[in-house]
Parts: sequence; C-alpha cells; structure tokens
Amino acid sequence: MHTLPELPYRLDALEPYLSRETLDYHYGKHHRAYVNKLNELIKGTDYEHVSLEALIRATRPSPGRSSPVYNNAAQAWNHAFYWHCLTPQATPPDTHLREVLTTRFGSVDDFQLQFARTAVTTFGSGWTWLVADDSGDLDIISTANADTPLAAGRMPLLTCDVWEHAYYIDYRNARAEYLAAFWKIINWDFVAANLRHLHRTSHAA
Ligand SMILES: [Fe+2]
Repeated sequence: MHTLPELPYRLDALEPYLSRETLDYHYGKHHRAYVNKLNELIKGTDYEHVSLEALIRATRPSPGRSSPVYNNAAQAWNHAFYWHCLTPQATPPDTHLREVLTTRFGSVDDFQLQFARTAVTTFGSGWTWLVADDSGDLDIISTANADTPLAAGRMPLLTCDVWEHAYYIDYRNARAEYLAAFWKIINWDFVAANLRHLHRTSHAA
C-alpha cells in the first residue's frame, strides 16, 4: 500500500509563483489520484508489497507499449521527487554544485537556459530532468508522459513537471513563463544533496 507523501511546505507556500489552487489540484488531486490508482491496480497482485522504485524498474513497458501499473507508479514517484525540487526559501547553488554545473554546461546560467529550452520544447506532456548516468556524467533530458529516468538506471538530480496540469491555472499555455517562475522557487539544496549522494554511492561502488 503506497501513501501520498506529505507536501514539504504549505499549499500556499510557493505563491506568487505557483498558486495554492495549482498545488491544491496538482498535489491534492492529480498526485493523490496516481497513488490511489496504483494501489487499486496492485491490490492482490505480486506487486502489492514491492517498493515504488522496484515496481518502476520491474514494470517499465517496451517502447510503444503501455503499462497502467508503470504509469501510475512512475507518476507517484516523479511527483514526490518534484515537490522536493521546489522550495519557498530558494538559496543559490552551493560552491560544489556551481562548479559541477559550470564544468558540464558552461555556467549555472547556461545550465538554466539549456534546461528551460528542453522543458519548453518538450512536445506534449512529460518531465524535464537533470540526470546522472552510471559514470556520474550529467545530462539534461526529457521523458514523455509518465516515463521516469529511474527506470533506465539514470539518477535524477532535478526535475520540472511540464504537464499542463502543473501550470495551466497560473500561466495558461505559457510554459516558458512557468519555467521562469520555476527558477524563483528551485530547491538548489535538494539538487546539491542528490549530487552528494551520487558521489558517495559512486565512490562506494
Ligand atoms: Fe504533475
């Protein structure tokens, strides 16, 4: 049985960038619906007591196929991760993260430009990610619909939900405006913590 994780801040904490109404729908209705649907689908099956991450890895369909269990499990995981990528108390990236982004993308600003360009040009519903592969190399990618890089063995460091339900109430169809707001409430500390975790696990391997 999976539960809807608690939002790490109040519903109105991200205003004026994301309204209480957006979070009310996005977290309270969409995210909750993915968790509820997943529980409904796995009840009485072999997947009932499997962790969300293991479930995602076990049920990813081959390209062109659909798996309702995968879709709802991936959306449950993606949303839980996304909420932590946002914060009402945004602080600048720490020195290490700044160095890593600068080495890979030219500068933090260049990283943000490339990330936003990928997010804005992603066709239809999906997610834009900063991910690391096995060797620790960073990349910006988009996944379609519910798909998550976790299933492909890439470690997410940051994501932006580019489904219209993430921004339509506040920005209508203006995804670029949503991206501009995203940087005002980005949780760089979370990204830095994910990077530290990645370095610890890759050094331990
Ligand atoms: Fe969403």
